[in-house]
Amino acid sequence: MTLVAPIIAGNWKLNHGPPETKRFFERFLPLLPAATGTVAFFPPAISFASAREALAGRSDVLLGVQNVHWETEGAFTGEISARMAADAGAAFALVGHSERRHLFGETDTDTALKTRAVLDAGMTVILCVGETLEEREAGLAFNVVERQIDAVSGILDSSDLQRLAIAYEPVWAIGTGRTASPADASEVHGHLRAVLDERWGDEARTIPILYGGSVKPDNSAELLAAPDVDGLLVGGASLDAESFAAICSGRA
Ligand code: PGA
Repeated sequence: MTLVAPIIAGNWKLNHGPPETKRFFERFLPLLPAATGTVAFFPPAISFASAREALAGRSDVLLGVQNVHWETEGAFTGEISARMAADAGAAFALVGHSERRHLFGETDTDTALKTRAVLDAGMTVILCVGETLEEREAGLAFNVVERQIDAVSGILDSSDLQRLAIAYEPVWAIGTGRTASPADASEVHGHLRAVLDERWGDEARTIPILYGGSVKPDNSAELLAAPDVDGLLVGGASLDAESFAAICSGRA
């Protein structure tokens, strides 16, 4: 699948069960008659089928899952596999979201295993990277995102790069209302671009870099216009149909 920029993705986290999902799309779809660029939602796994049903006939709006296990099947209570997600119609999976890393103890090794599983299932990975406030204040933002990229680089070969996107999500900006300025975002995106270039050369040019962390209708346009920002990963503001439609249509 070719990712057309800008990529605007809504991560619903633990919000919107099946009935709310149906209601959301009844409001949202008329507000976005045709998506330009790539629009994708990451509903909770239990709401995935409702989202898919609501999106019948709307091939311009894609779906993904928030998390997968790297095993294909077996005794792993509570988990879903990348293969199952792909079979259900997911085009994407988030890997390494900061809530997975910091609330659920996901390690760099886990993100590498999950990245491989998602690619092997034929989906596109959105690999989330980002530093905590403490790491930023210690001047380590670049080192942290570089380490998080390198954790997966060993399991990728050049044919995988077409199905990889990076989301820079500074932990201090997620759900806090404290957005990185366009200049802050661009600075780290520029560094990520240089790291990708160093690791894979020209073939990495297609890898989009999204920004995430307190994106709202009133700051989305300036973030999207910042150098090296190819899309947005939106949490809280993606739960409201009007807000997210405004972000997607650039009408914000
Ligand atoms: P937020 O979440 O927009 O609510 O800060 C972003 C994310 O975690 O992906």
